[in-house]
Amino acid sequence: MAECATYGTVAVLQINDPPLNVLGHDVRSQLMSGLQQALQDKAVRSIVIMGKGQTFTAGADVKEFGTEKVFWEPTLHSLVEAVSAATKPVVTAIHGTTLGGGVALALASHYRLADSSAKMGLPEVQLGILPTCGVTQRLPRLVGLQTAVRMVTSGQTLSAQQALTAGLLDKVVPDDLLKKAVGFARSVDVQGLEARRVSSWTVPDVDRAEDVLDAARKTLVRRSRGAIAPLTGLQAIQASLLPFETGMKREAELGRYLWTSWQAAALRYAFFAERAVKRWHIPRNKNVNYRTVEPMDIKSVGVLGAGTMGIGISISLLQAGLKVVLTEVNKAQLDKGKSYCKFWLKKSNSNTELSGGKPQPMQLRATTDYSQLREVDLVIEAVFEDLALKKKVFRQLDAVTNPRTILATNTSGLDIDKIAAATQRPDKVIGTHFFSPAQVMRLLENIYGRHTSGETIATAMQLGATIGKVGVLVGNCPGFVGNRMKGLNFTEAMFLLEEGADPQDVDKALEEFGFAMGPFRVSDLAGGDVHWRRRIQAGLTTEHGPPPYTPVLYRQGNRYSPLADMLCMQGRFGQKTGAGWYRYKSGSRTALPDAEVHRLIHKHRQDHGFQRRNISSQEIVERCLFPLINEGFRILEEGLAAGPQDIDVIFLLGFGWPRHTGGPMYYADKVVGLGNLLQSLEKYRAHHPRSAHWVPSSLLRKMAAQGTSLSIWAAGSRL
Ligand SMILES: NC(=O)c1ccc[n+]([C@@H]2O[C@H](COP(=O)([O-])OP(=O)(O)OC[C@H]3O[C@@H](n4cnc5c(N)ncnc54)[C@H](O)[C@@H]3O)[C@@H](O)[C@H]2O)c1
Repeated sequence: MAECATYGTVAVLQINDPPLNVLGHDVRSQLMSGLQQALQDKAVRSIVIMGKGQTFTAGADVKEFGTEKVFWEPTLHSLVEAVSAATKPVVTAIHGTTLGGGVALALASHYRLADSSAKMGLPEVQLGILPTCGVTQRLPRLVGLQTAVRMVTSGQTLSAQQALTAGLLDKVVPDDLLKKAVGFARSVDVQGLEARRVSSWTVPDVDRAEDVLDAARKTLVRRSRGAIAPLTGLQAIQASLLPFETGMKREAELGRYLWTSWQAAALRYAFFAERAVKRWHIPRNKNVNYRTVEPMDIKSVGVLGAGTMGIGISISLLQAGLKVVLTEVNKAQLDKGKSYCKFWLKKSNSNTELSGGKPQPMQLRATTDYSQLREVDLVIEAVFEDLALKKKVFRQLDAVTNPRTILATNTSGLDIDKIAAATQRPDKVIGTHFFSPAQVMRLLENIYGRHTSGETIATAMQLGATIGKVGVLVGNCPGFVGNRMKGLNFTEAMFLLEEGADPQDVDKALEEFGFAMGPFRVSDLAGGDVHWRRRIQAGLTTEHGPPPYTPVLYRQGNRYSPLADMLCMQGRFGQKTGAGWYRYKSGSRTALPDAEVHRLIHKHRQDHGFQRRNISSQEIVERCLFPLINEGFRILEEGLAAGPQDIDVIFLLGFGWPRHTGGPMYYADKVVGLGNLLQSLEKYRAHHPRSAHWVPSSLLRKMAAQGTSLSIWAAGSRL
């Protein structure tokens, strides 16, 4: 809805379509007719466009994307051009967060006013599309190339003050936007209208254009890692150096190219998948779902263990205004944890205040006394990854806490049922698997056990939302969904070393695919000892080499590479020891190739008769990713995830899977194709018969045989 009113000689068109005033077809039609009426009305001398409610407008209606509706007249483009061509001055008055199409309207207006709450941004790049409707042509003319490149290629928003400084706004008023906008519109001069059309301006920093654009291109090639939208955005901005009409044609061409790209479809899918997983249900029981079960109200949370995860989890809870009781056996570690929480909260509070938000009080109690957990509503355990220890602390928690308290574990993959069995309240036990750093990573993998109640699940999902995470509900199996699938990627990465690749070849291929870091750089960052300890616990290796009477290259019925164990036995744990798969200069995180590692791999190849061969990037990517995807199909088959979207969200938010490919399951379905995936798995299986992960899942076989797709198979699986 858009409402029209007149205040003397000023017509005010107000978008009123809560909650976000998006520019869907109805709103566009009403704005257009309001504009035309105002232009025809002789009593009107100037026009204000603004929004009611929490924001001016959040831009285009994403629900129209991929549908015909987006092309229905008046399109956003027609509306924006009508505003620009208006024969009476148009003032856009902005409040709240104004995005995309809202910025396009503002740029086409002749004056831009905002209140101090306003923020302006162009998030299109995150959906793989280009801000069109003249944004890439008018924005550089107003704010210069550098700021325009930043806004278009990163999606970064500007505060009202930043927008004013950049030249995007003409004026910022403290409050009472309607009154101030009407007063401003009354004061503007009809005579000067032509000079106010941004399309007639030239880019202010045109003299430095080549330098600015070259530098931006270099940075974007490095940062975008295969995503095409940022560099296409840069090309569009470059076209603002051409005459306006020519630039507009170029913008339209580039806009169409991105609009129809597979990456835009993948990014749109990722956007909706994140929302879909919130409508959770138990994978094998749709009756227990976000609509049928009420969560418990959680006000205070105990966190057990003030290590890496316990501290990060505490910060996430404190930032959301919850009371936290941080409990730890080691006093020095507790003190360290407490001061880090304080430091972080202070920092995040000052950022919140800068952007006009409300700071959170520090409601933290730090203690070595378990009895302090008596009255909390929920406890999240984050002690060492050791089943016996976890069982012991759950017994203690069961004894000390109120019987209604939910007991959650942050285990990375231990059996939730075994942990729950240590308590008298298995219905109140759940896995809440945070990712590191927990105060930053947005994923919360929630794992329900055999006896976990609907209320407990609903509470964990609600807690995730309260602290700004995206909760994904999955079933209980070793490693759950994320780590179970991810583990296979590293296994194959090591086999590739045995067969001829160097660590940097593997990392480079996966970084070119779109990961921020390849598996060996990630291992060095996380610390190789973490997984080494797990392999020792699982009986795959010992601190001194293979377990007695065990073949070096086979363990527990499968091919095994001992290379990572060999590095750990030399104390090469990664960045923290200055050496891992790479070497690191003191105080530096830059991974440098290490002749020592190459020698070790070379000797291992010789000792075990591996013939070194050249391995293509394509093979590296397929060998590292296809087993992981195959495991995803098994997980669906076993009913451990509600659908492919759940798996994709886990990988997008928890494992840095490149968003422009949609996630592993989407990538398999829409980019690789299920038939091709099956063929590749069969091919690699023939070459590597001792690796069970190459055996195609029966669900994949069935789908490939039927020629169906995952999206068709999953259609209707969500509530
Ligand atoms: N580090 C990660 O990246 C990561 C990611 C996800 C999940 N996890 C899981 O989170 C858990 C904790 O991992 P972390 O990396 O924070 O470990 P950590 O070694 O950094 O911290 C564990 C802390 O628990 C404390 N602790 C040990 N026994 C205790 C007890 N009985 N009572 C209270 N405190 C006790 C230790 O003193 C230590 O400070 C593990 O289960 C791990 O698998 C870790």
